[in-house]
Amino acid sequence: MKLTVKAVLEKKGKEKIAALTAYDFPFARILDEVGLDIVLVGDSLGMVLLGYDSTLPVTMREMIHHTKAVSRAVKRSLVVSDMPFGTYQASAEQALRNARRLIQEGGADAVKLEGGGPRAKQVKVLVEAGIPVMGHLGMTPQSATQLGGYKVQGREEEAAKEILEDAQRLEEAGIFSLVLECVPSQLAERITQKISCPTIGIGAGPKTDGQILVLHDLLGFKGKVEPRFVRRYADFETEAQKAFSRYLKDVRSGSFPALKESFE
Ligand code: KIV
Repeated sequence: MKLTVKAVLEKKGKEKIAALTAYDFPFARILDEVGLDIVLVGDSLGMVLLGYDSTLPVTMREMIHHTKAVSRAVKRSLVVSDMPFGTYQASAEQALRNARRLIQEGGADAVKLEGGGPRAKQVKVLVEAGIPVMGHLGMTPQSATQLGGYKVQGREEEAAKEILEDAQRLEEAGIFSLVLECVPSQLAERITQKISCPTIGIGAGPKTDGQILVLHDLLGFKGKVEPRFVRRYADFETEAQKAFSRYLKDVRSGSFPALKESFE
């Protein structure tokens, strides 16, 4: 049975929420079968799949394309799709038009957008239109240049207070969960205690209601950015290199294909 937004909300304080990104059918299918709660089609796809230097060039067309592939594979997990840069900041109308496309054309269950208080209006309008919204605070990659790079945010008390207030404003606007990226763990814990919807941490320590990682980081692919907080659960980069090198050798030597791998 499909996990609902309500079920995700009810996990707070009871069970940790496990989320990962996915951008294609095969990995999304595996995550769903393993039982991940949330599959995020992150705009990180711009960096990990498409080779851009940041998430800024990612378009609605690219997000819809990948969200469709993920939604086709997922039966149980909640599919959240990222709103790309420039598709929601200008106005609530713009946000609604583009969020609707991710839901209707992409097949997502919910959308995620970055930023604090100034985005509360967009969140409210989407939620009123029946679109569940995940918030994203701390090191928000779409604003990395403004934030001074991919750096921890909220170390100073003033900055921490601002992030906490943003979290509260987004909560009031109706988000069903909040990604906290690269913030000190004490701040993530403080926010987790203060707001009633679940917090999902990435580089935010162990005290959030859930965790998320970028799939390709977890699998051990070399990335454009290699954050310290990532735990590599596999070494796909080396395994892929080994498999491709063996294939190359076998083709060159003529040992692939063997007769049994050929038609009579
Ligand atoms: O785009 C993404 O993958 C994200 C996660 C890092 C939370 O926003």
